[in-house]
Amino acid sequence: MSKQFNVAVVGATGAVGEVMLSVLAERNFPVGELVALASERSAGNTVQFGDRDIVVRDLATFDPASVKGGGIDIALFSAGGAISKEYAPKFAAVGAVVIDNSSTFRYDADVPLVVSEVNPDAITQRPRGIIANPNCSTMQLMVALAPIHRAVGIERINVATYQSVSGAGRSAVEELGQQTASLLRCEPIDPQRFPVQIAFNLFPHGGDFLDNGYTTEEMKLVWETRKILGDESIRVNATVVRVPVFYGHSEAVAIETRDKISALEARALLEQALGVVVVDQPRAGGYPTPVTHAAGTDPVYVGRIREDISHPRGLNLWVVSDNIRKGAALNAVQIAELLAKAYS
Ligand code: A2P
Repeated sequence: MSKQFNVAVVGATGAVGEVMLSVLAERNFPVGELVALASERSAGNTVQFGDRDIVVRDLATFDPASVKGGGIDIALFSAGGAISKEYAPKFAAVGAVVIDNSSTFRYDADVPLVVSEVNPDAITQRPRGIIANPNCSTMQLMVALAPIHRAVGIERINVATYQSVSGAGRSAVEELGQQTASLLRCEPIDPQRFPVQIAFNLFPHGGDFLDNGYTTEEMKLVWETRKILGDESIRVNATVVRVPVFYGHSEAVAIETRDKISALEARALLEQALGVVVVDQPRAGGYPTPVTHAAGTDPVYVGRIREDISHPRGLNLWVVSDNIRKGAALNAVQIAELLAKAYS
């Protein structure tokens, strides 16, 4: 029998955790024991894993070494930065490999930051037993841009994101739904999860404001791009915008390459690229959107590929993907698959 792995999902009741469970089941990951963990509030509730109901356990009282067959082998964390900071080292200390979806460890030199299609080999260098999953916006950008960077070099990236609310968790999805319903009934709304009304609106802000005028969500695109592509010289300029879409992030991307690449060549390159689906016909609807293509699916969709008329080595792309799947849960499971492959 091939090796099986005891897997913990931390944050199993959350927007990402729930999809981690379904992706593990869909892809037939070789799970031995599956442990679903969340806060004390959810302990005793059940979550779905394939056709099984799994009882949620309280992370605070769970001992990762206690699971039969040698304890937890792989722990997928998506319960927020504070939880990762406190508990990921505890899981790693008993031999589990932690795949962490928070930003807590992403910028540490001794923690690899991995996009499965881009830098899978980086998983082998994990002295702390922790592998970081990139930010959802960086993730889809890297899947689309790494093939171009390898071919002709990218000097500069200008990106504006159109981020769905699910990236901010289950409560944000509920807020968009409730605000939409209230406003359609002409009832007042009271923003809680977001700083301003999100239904029928959008706003240019994600994370915290920094001294340089950018936000943390914008700087993640800078820091993570350089780390994943292993190229500190790439210049990245990002504007993060939250839009009233439930699932699927979109990005308007303008790059400046080292060597000229035509739109035709870029399209051909991306058609062969791992994890990418090109949807690029110059007609109404001949481009990907969160609702028509991305939500609930795995690929990173690329459309509107065209040469930038304002720059001799400029190229424009429109990049869309499900932020909860490839942007979080799917990539975490793909990293787990890379680990499983390395063990077998
Ligand atoms: P719970 O449902 O018990 O609060 P989302 O990103 O969709 O908001 O989900 C966050 C996830 O993190 C949920 O599964 C949530 O569990 C979990 N979580 C939040 N706080 C804690 C905590 N103190 N201990 C363990 N899990 C937590």
